[in-house]
Amino acid sequence: MTFQVQEVPVEGILEMVTAERNAFETPPQPIFKLYCPITDNDRAKTNADTAAEQQRFVQESAPNVSVKNIWIKAKATSPGSSETNEELAGAAQWIFTVPGPSPSLETKTEHLARRHPEGGARIFAAEAFRILCECNERHRLSTRPHRPYATLGTFFTMPQYRRRGIGSVLLEWGLRQADEKQMDIWIEAAPSAVSVYERHGFVQMEVIHLKPRCPDGLPETVRAEWEAVEKSILPVTAVVMCRLSRLTS
Ligand SMILES: CC(C)(COP(=O)(O)OP(=O)(O)OC[C@H]1O[C@@H](n2cnc3c(N)ncnc32)[C@H](O)[C@@H]1OP(=O)(O)O)[C@@H](O)C(=O)NCCC(=O)NCCS
Repeated sequence: MTFQVQEVPVEGILEMVTAERNAFETPPQPIFKLYCPITDNDRAKTNADTAAEQQRFVQESAPNVSVKNIWIKAKATSPGSSETNEELAGAAQWIFTVPGPSPSLETKTEHLARRHPEGGARIFAAEAFRILCECNERHRLSTRPHRPYATLGTFFTMPQYRRRGIGSVLLEWGLRQADEKQMDIWIEAAPSAVSVYERHGFVQMEVIHLKPRCPDGLPETVRAEWEAVEKSILPVTAVVMCRLSRLTS
């Protein structure tokens, strides 16, 4: 069996988003429920909405904007089989941010939180994203604030293809790009993926045990929504990690 890495065209993003949900559910990764909740109990519609949002994000990536967003996928091909028998083995979304105007922390966290229904769930999500983004930004700004940097929007291998080096191939694709551009890489890693990142030169900066604080004074129904979503998502642990580029000039 051979594996090929290729860029995903915008019309292929729905396949990635659908596969991503399956990959993160086997076994369940609590942080995925925070990033990609299912709306109205409708997986297909949620995946379609997420894919449409991602397509817009990719299409907005252009040489004149500060963010370049690229999905890549690894396809598995059995010896002797035709291209039509290829199967998706894994994928990653690499996001390269160059110096320039970029969305504020508040805009970023509000945008992500809007994936949750209005009310207590959205307030919980906004607070959780604020904690994660602030921690990442604090370390990045106190390390090398003016460097362009890259991050991973997602990264997964389908369960049946794990532990064969596919994750490494998807990572190495982005590492090569980052090295060429002399970009640092900053991520929030799931604990189970930390060893894979460490083998590729990432170091741990901080371990976050997510514990958003419920704001005082919320109406009782909103507080109940907060508590329900908190119970369904926590505990979540994330590890802020970075890989600094070697500067040649
Ligand atoms: C994290 C993830 C992407 C890794 O993908 P993968 O394709 O299994 O990655 P690799 O095969 O490159 O490496 C995984 C392990 O297999 C080992 N491995 C690689 N090739 C191997 C082989 N041929 N035989 C045996 N083991 C092998 C690696 O040494 C590594 O070991 P480690 O976990 O002790 O570091 C995958 O487990 C996954 O999709 N998890 C769910 C989603 C997720 O958590 N994503 C990360 C979010 S931050």
